[in-house]
Amino acid sequence: MSNILVLGGTGFVGRHVCEQLQRAGHRTTVPTRHPKHADQVRHLPLLTVLTANIHDVNELTQLMAGHDAVINLVAILHGNERSFEQVHVTLPRTIAQACERSGVKRLVHVSALGAATDAPSMYQRSKARGEQVLQAAPLDLTVLRPSVIFGEGDSFLNLFARVQHWLPVFPLAGADTRFQPVWVEDVARAIVHALDHPTSVGQTVELVGPEVFTLRELARMAGQAAGCPRPVLGLPRALAYFQALFMEMAPGVPLMSTDNLSAMEVPNVASPASAGVTTQASWGLKPASLRAVLPTYIGPEAGGLGPRNRLLRLRAKGRWSA
Ligand SMILES: NC(=O)c1ccc[n+]([C@@H]2O[C@H](COP(=O)([O-])OP(=O)(O)OC[C@H]3O[C@@H](n4cnc5c(N)ncnc54)[C@H](OP(=O)(O)O)[C@@H]3O)[C@@H](O)[C@H]2O)c1
Repeated sequence: MSNILVLGGTGFVGRHVCEQLQRAGHRTTVPTRHPKHADQVRHLPLLTVLTANIHDVNELTQLMAGHDAVINLVAILHGNERSFEQVHVTLPRTIAQACERSGVKRLVHVSALGAATDAPSMYQRSKARGEQVLQAAPLDLTVLRPSVIFGEGDSFLNLFARVQHWLPVFPLAGADTRFQPVWVEDVARAIVHALDHPTSVGQTVELVGPEVFTLRELARMAGQAAGCPRPVLGLPRALAYFQALFMEMAPGVPLMSTDNLSAMEVPNVASPASAGVTTQASWGLKPASLRAVLPTYIGPEAGGLGPRNRLLRLRAKGRWSA
């Protein structure tokens, strides 16, 4: 058994990672900014939830003490230059410093497919700079770059299903952008695999599903799975921009931002073999098909939310635990 510190363990991917670490017999520590955010993982018997400021290098160094490895899943999808820099670049620098001070060398860092210093979106550019910061540190590092992630609790295909439950037509920005969605359980499996296999040290691995779909095809599949398929109306670029700008300015977490739109200027699919970056297939991991998994968590009975998602919501409310 190892002791693993999971930064971002309360999030969508983090919850699945914590469950798989648990099954593999690892003891985990999950820091959070707000204890309420940990409601979906605190039931796991080998897991400890702590409230902490992981941006403080002293606090993070103390947290790391006694751990064998760190997994970093902390990220934001929406923000500005400053917030992306803080979460995707400055925090990795702080993590590297805390690793050095506490003597923890092993780090599995989750970045994103398309991370590149010349990428069209702030999100992807900041993710690339974060990778560079960690590559330069004296760490036993594995970098994982997932494409868009689906699975129970996702805010991607569940959202597509919900929109079609509400609206007679689905107006969609970036409808022709190609994605290679990967199942959250496969992402978690790759993270645990990386931890358990020291040969992954020094590698950057893309995590993708077996099929490529346009966003329009994904929207149609989500609508069909939810039992409310609607016509999908691809928005022209200018209209898509104003839709994203409007959503960005509306109160609350935006469904879409102009930066998300920028990211969709390039396909979100595995790099060509000539790029020298491998996928999880190089580890012998076979990803699940979206077509097979989708009906297991999006069903018609709750307007796009299948039975497993309802269990997740009950667990979050503390009315059910595994
Ligand atoms: N979801 C996808 O489709 C997708 C696709 C490609 C790559 N990824 C990558 O996969 C990783 C996990 O993504 P996810 O979807 O699980 O994200 P998520 O659900 O949004 O979770 C984010 C986590 O980060 C923590 N966090 C967020 N902002 C923070 C801040 N300012 N300071 C400290 N902690 C903060 C949150 O913890 P608390 O709120 O508890 O503090 C939460 O546990 C990220 O690196 C993401 O870029 C995700």
